[in-house]
Amino acid sequence: METTLPSTEHAASPRPVFFRSAGIGLVTLLLMHLAFGCSGQSGSDTTLVPVQGINFTLNLADKANENLTVKGGYVVMNNVIIAQTKSGTFVAVSVNCTFDKTRLVFKAAENQFYCPLDLSRYDTTGNIISGPATLPLTAYRIEPNAAAGTLVIRN
Ligand code: FES
Repeated sequence: METTLPSTEHAASPRPVFFRSAGIGLVTLLLMHLAFGCSGQSGSDTTLVPVQGINFTLNLADKANENLTVKGGYVVMNNVIIAQTKSGTFVAVSVNCTFDKTRLVFKAAENQFYCPLDLSRYDTTGNIISGPATLPLTAYRIEPNAAAGTLVIRN
């Protein structure tokens, strides 16, 4: 008489097989991300979505805007990054990198907007200094009012 027993290979190790498969999947995802960075994502879409109807006022006396009272400081509001350059000029551009929409920072030492994800750089008017981004940022007008201590940002 023949008796069929469960395979010892499957009965003894269902979890290790599962975790080994899951681990290979995770390693594959990690390697793909490292290899392609954000270039495999929406950065290949060259369609810019402009920020519409920008028109707001910053009061420099507000605690939230105090970074703008020093050269090299910046704030982000309404999808706009507003900075005071090294020379004391106020500039404003769209805050998201045109490559993959990462939020930019202002690097005071270089007087540039900088993408911390893939290192695109833009000048203070939003033009590209170095990629991978290929499209400029949207630049906005700034109207300082020294008497009122305000900045009006508009397109
Ligand atoms: S998001 Fe990739 S360069 Fe900015």
